[in-house]
Amino acid sequence: MQMIKKVSLRGLFLCLTFFLLPTASIAVEQPASSAIASAHPLATAAGQDTLNAGGNAFDAAVTVSAVLAVVEPYSSGIGGGGFWLLHRASDGFEVMLDGRERAPLAAHRDLYLGPDGKVIDGLSVNGALAAAIPGEPAALVHLAEKYGKLPLKQTLAPAIALAKMGFPVDEYYQKMAKWRLQYLQQSPAAAAQFLSNNELPAVGDLILQLDLAETLQALADQGHAGFYAGSVAKKLVDGVRAAGGIWSLKDLKNYQVIEREPVRFNYGQMSITSAALPSSGGIVLAIMFNILQEMELETYQGVDRKHLIIEAMRRAYRDRAQYLGDSDFIDIPQQRLISPAHAAELAADIHLNKASISQPLSGQNAEEGRDTTHFSILDREGNRVSATLSINYPFGSAFVAPGTGVLLNDEMDDFSAQPGIPNVYGLVGGEANAIAPGKRMLSSMSPTFTESKQGVAILGSPGGSRIITMVLHGILSQAEGEGPTDWVKTPRFHHQYLPDEVQFEPMALSEAEIKNLQSRGHQLTPLSSQYGNMQAIYWNKSSGNVTAASDPRGIGSAAVW
Ligand code: DON
Repeated sequence: MQMIKKVSLRGLFLCLTFFLLPTASIAVEQPASSAIASAHPLATAAGQDTLNAGGNAFDAAVTVSAVLAVVEPYSSGIGGGGFWLLHRASDGFEVMLDGRERAPLAAHRDLYLGPDGKVIDGLSVNGALAAAIPGEPAALVHLAEKYGKLPLKQTLAPAIALAKMGFPVDEYYQKMAKWRLQYLQQSPAAAAQFLSNNELPAVGDLILQLDLAETLQALADQGHAGFYAGSVAKKLVDGVRAAGGIWSLKDLKNYQVIEREPVRFNYGQMSITSAALPSSGGIVLAIMFNILQEMELETYQGVDRKHLIIEAMRRAYRDRAQYLGDSDFIDIPQQRLISPAHAAELAADIHLNKASISQPLSGQNAEEGRDTTHFSILDREGNRVSATLSINYPFGSAFVAPGTGVLLNDEMDDFSAQPGIPNVYGLVGGEANAIAPGKRMLSSMSPTFTESKQGVAILGSPGGSRIITMVLHGILSQAEGEGPTDWVKTPRFHHQYLPDEVQFEPMALSEAEIKNLQSRGHQLTPLSSQYGNMQAIYWNKSSGNVTAASDPRGIGSAAVW
């Protein structure tokens, strides 16, 4: 039984944060400071403690991931998955840990269709049938065992302590819980964990997650088997099946992290490293930047520049819909897609004074807030982690398997339930991203590094389909000579091919720009609120200085020390 009572965030800080160590002397090719930017101050503080205790960036990534799983339950968790992009300083080795969820073995391409052959609304979003097999627990074990220096018992300890001690509800938690209230109430274990007497908790109420603490402890004690076998696995499978899901013990036992070669490309003087499939992030970024390079974006200003960026976005997302999915299941012409020659073909029909037309297909629009999470870490040796983690929708499927404390994802909705039918982010897909047993669903999560003679950047954001264009805006801001504080706050606009519209934040376009873009034929859709929650770090290699910033749209924090 979970309990809720009042406590202050400050009190928790004092319990969890130790004194920071002074920085040592600057070594050549090493940053002058460590840095962490994450979506929650408790996660940033816990990650600092891990680094100060002798851990490296990979150990800190375990701590930050696990603490976020506890204190941002609407965003990510051990019932979900993600991508951890790593750079090891000692030999320059770079890899993407693919901890993406997989479809259960009993899943099939028509899983969410009714007898009439039409998609059943909500089935891939709410409840146990929406949940894919989680990857985050396996990824944390892999990170610790292969790249870390500290035992999981140590790096998971802050998350376990927070799950036991609780954290206070804030306004954002309350907003997300309100949005998912009806579905949280349908899962008694979720309601006990995240609500107060089955109703919306008040700001300041304490969320205690005792079952989750036990599951995290099993992971700390037994590694992979602590989650994917034994009593935790049995409770997960029994709970999911009793609620209409299709998981089996074999699904859990078979889950493995995959190490993937990241996607690499250049823009100007920068070399950019980003997420590999099954995230579309790296490929879509490469296509957009290659088009912008082909168009010589730096020679344009103002609304002309914005028009070209929109047209690059449109074309890259068209390729996403047509070609991208899990490369372990389908052949994808990746080298062609990220080649400058392909970009030149795509750029050939861009007109400066006229918007192109995406095929008219209906699309819908989810409210893409700050669920899903990103963090960036740099340690004093120059090791880096850029990680974006998710359970998909706010509070995922809103289902907790009884006795586990594990809130399950609804990542199955990132598959294309039917060709041309949009998912909650309005994204369409085709055969390449159709559901198949054991397949990983296409993602937009884009943990990214940029590197040039001047410096190294680590950045990423949540935001559903808009993640990739947010990272584009961040890197374009960097290319203009701006720093992390600007990258994370720059106003954002977005086009994703379908629906055929430019979505934009209140400050992203002036009245004159709106009129101008409309006169070129763009359909403009103002958003009522801001979106995204970027976390970024920059290491200036000539001075050694490190700067970091957390998106002002969120409640996160950045620390450099
Ligand atoms: O993997 C993806 O692309 C999505 N599941 C991410 C969802 C997300 O960022 C929601 N945030 N607002």
